[in-house]
Amino acid sequence: MKIAIVGTGYVGLVTGVCLSEIGHQVTCIDVDEAKVDKMRAGVSPIYEPGLDELMQKNIEAGRLFFTTSHQEGFQDAEAIYIAVGTPPREDGTANLSYVEEVAKSIAAHIDSYTVVVTKSTVPVGTNYRIKEMISAGVEGRALFDIVSNPEFLREGTAVQDAFQGDRIVIGSDNPKAAQVVEEINKPFGIPVYHTDISSAEMIKYASNAFLATKISFINEISALCEKLGANVEDVAAGMGMDKRIGSQFLRAGIGYGGSCFPKDTKALVQIAGNVEHEFDLLKSVIQVNNKQQQLLVDKAKARFGSLEDKTVALLGLAFKPQTDDMRESASIVVSQQLVQEGARIQAFDPIQPEMAAQLLPPEVALCQTLKDALTNADCVFIITDWPEFKKMDIPMASQLMKSPVFFDGRNCFSLEYAVSQGIEYHSIGRESVGVKR
Ligand code: UDX
Repeated sequence: MKIAIVGTGYVGLVTGVCLSEIGHQVTCIDVDEAKVDKMRAGVSPIYEPGLDELMQKNIEAGRLFFTTSHQEGFQDAEAIYIAVGTPPREDGTANLSYVEEVAKSIAAHIDSYTVVVTKSTVPVGTNYRIKEMISAGVEGRALFDIVSNPEFLREGTAVQDAFQGDRIVIGSDNPKAAQVVEEINKPFGIPVYHTDISSAEMIKYASNAFLATKISFINEISALCEKLGANVEDVAAGMGMDKRIGSQFLRAGIGYGGSCFPKDTKALVQIAGNVEHEFDLLKSVIQVNNKQQQLLVDKAKARFGSLEDKTVALLGLAFKPQTDDMRESASIVVSQQLVQEGARIQAFDPIQPEMAAQLLPPEVALCQTLKDALTNADCVFIITDWPEFKKMDIPMASQLMKSPVFFDGRNCFSLEYAVSQGIEYHSIGRESVGVKR
């Protein structure tokens, strides 16, 4: 099938590349000319394992194209996917201006029956607004239908998720249009769930809010574990064996970040507020997460008294491993706090995200190697559980540092291992070990 995708962020680009991989003719559209040039050459603008290879393969096979022109991309497209960003406004509501621009452009350019598929995460009711906007602009020139098809991929495993996702949600008020989207996705072999448009929109928010709730829940339990002498890793493992609970998203840590959970939880609170419903549970989830991001600094202050002139090796800048995305990463909050406390920061991330220089306070020294970050540090803060950090040469680290004091926001090491390495180790939801004062 001939498909156009508007927006080449994580969602749009991965969707476009994977749809071309299963045999469709896909044209990805983006306003950014430099980015389009790069993608035409088979280079992904984002770090996502496996994506470059698939891009190159499908460009060569003549199935994947890139353009800045909506008109060119929409030409003969049987389906147009809207995959532009819906970034949060100051008040937490989703900014829909990019989605609305695409709707206007679709109305201006289509001239035969087209299925418009919304991939962007949009508040409940938005697809109907898009439908009205296109109807008004298309003036009977062409027929079209709207389908809500939310995306559930995770950064870092996006390509894998596209082929092995748990479900494909198709929200539609027209069985024919729903069938088109089902056909498009058939080669993925993933179970399809059909529903109405509003429910599909809600499934996306509810899923992200639920996963965020699971994380904040285990983080609250971790605080209790620390106070009561339990071990949150064991507690989570024991809970997770209950199939009704499930073992995933029960990893206690420095809180959730990224482009989805923080944005979508805040947006859902707003959506609820608009219909006079106080979503108290979700408000608490957000509050717990904010508190959690401050935890390492609180622990370090309790340990050292003051952080004035202390040198902190800050390990991991991205919001999780296998991505260069720093949006809403705990590294930002932690750095700001450390700077306020008068500490010096030597930061290192294996991918060295381009966003680091803009998002971190100017006082942060960005290091090229792990060794540079560790040299003469008074303590280590682990923010992201990159494999490089989990298998770090601890004797080497201890030698480079002034004192081997670790504050681990991701529970990278077992307590036994930390003891065997002779380090002072403070983690989340577990007793501190090796503390010498
Ligand atoms: C998430 C959803 O998983 C995905 O379905 C949706 O489409 C987009 O949002 P993503 O943001 O890429 O994906 O990452 P994810 O792996 O879900 O992790 C989100 C955050 O939660 C990370 O900061 C991660 O470190 C944190 N997390 C995750 C935990 O702290 N504990 C866990 O147990 C799991």
